[in-house]
Amino acid sequence: MGGSSLPADLVNDGFGDGPRLEIVRDYRLPAAAGPRDLCIASSYSGNTEETLAALDDALSRGCRAIALSHGGQLEAKAAAAGIPHVPIPESIQPRCASGYFFASLVGIFHRLSLIPTPEALLDRLSKHLSGVQDACEARGKALAEALRDRVPIVYGPAEFAGAARIWKIKFNENAKIQSFSNVFPELNHNEMVGFTRLLIKPALIFLESRFMHPRVKRRMDVMEEILGREIPIHRLSFAGESPLFEMFESLAVADYASYHLAQAYGIDPAPVEMVEAFKKKL
Ligand code: PA5
Repeated sequence: MGGSSLPADLVNDGFGDGPRLEIVRDYRLPAAAGPRDLCIASSYSGNTEETLAALDDALSRGCRAIALSHGGQLEAKAAAAGIPHVPIPESIQPRCASGYFFASLVGIFHRLSLIPTPEALLDRLSKHLSGVQDACEARGKALAEALRDRVPIVYGPAEFAGAARIWKIKFNENAKIQSFSNVFPELNHNEMVGFTRLLIKPALIFLESRFMHPRVKRRMDVMEEILGREIPIHRLSFAGESPLFEMFESLAVADYASYHLAQAYGIDPAPVEMVEAFKKKL
């Protein structure tokens, strides 16, 4: 759930030709889950009720399982059930631990011989991100200024669905504002019609990939032609050797944009008091 599920999207989208995770954000697993499946229960706090219930469901169906958490009930449950537990290091918030979760998932894939050794890839990714960090902050800061008092709506190619969703979540949780995401080409078949009558002040963010289908780029161009006079559209492209690198670079910009927006609104980007208060009321 939430921040602890975000990296699974990045694994799926970033390893396009690799194994796919079926992401379950619910109390129960899909009906077909059974002994041939591996359940990876992932919760930063280790105390998220949906994740704990889904792991119980997995174990009761005879699935194999691995738990990922920074302690909590999940670690205790893993010990009691005799399943492996991967400790996630301390982080400011679950959504800031994406790198730890991502590397853990990739490590699990490698240990299961589903992908080749990932160390060199992760090392290059880390170096790439260090190299572009200052530029990402400058881009994020400039974007935050442009987004002031607007609702950011983040659109990307289908293979960036996870990244676009994480962008929206960063605006929701860091800047504490409404934000939405969707993907091309599907949004051209329905959602864009909603901009006929503007009930909010939106700003559109198009995440571009050098690897996206050329017709998706054309769709972005046409949409800008149609809506660009009414609605500010920010088109962002990224460098790097693969979509995985682009995604992570884009998320660095998202972190800085949402952080600087939070600063502009006088809001502390870290805590998510509403989520915590909600959980207590359940
Ligand atoms: O950002 C957050 O704090 C939430 O989205 C949490 O990640 C979500 O509620 C699940 O909690 P946890 O990550 O501890 O399992």
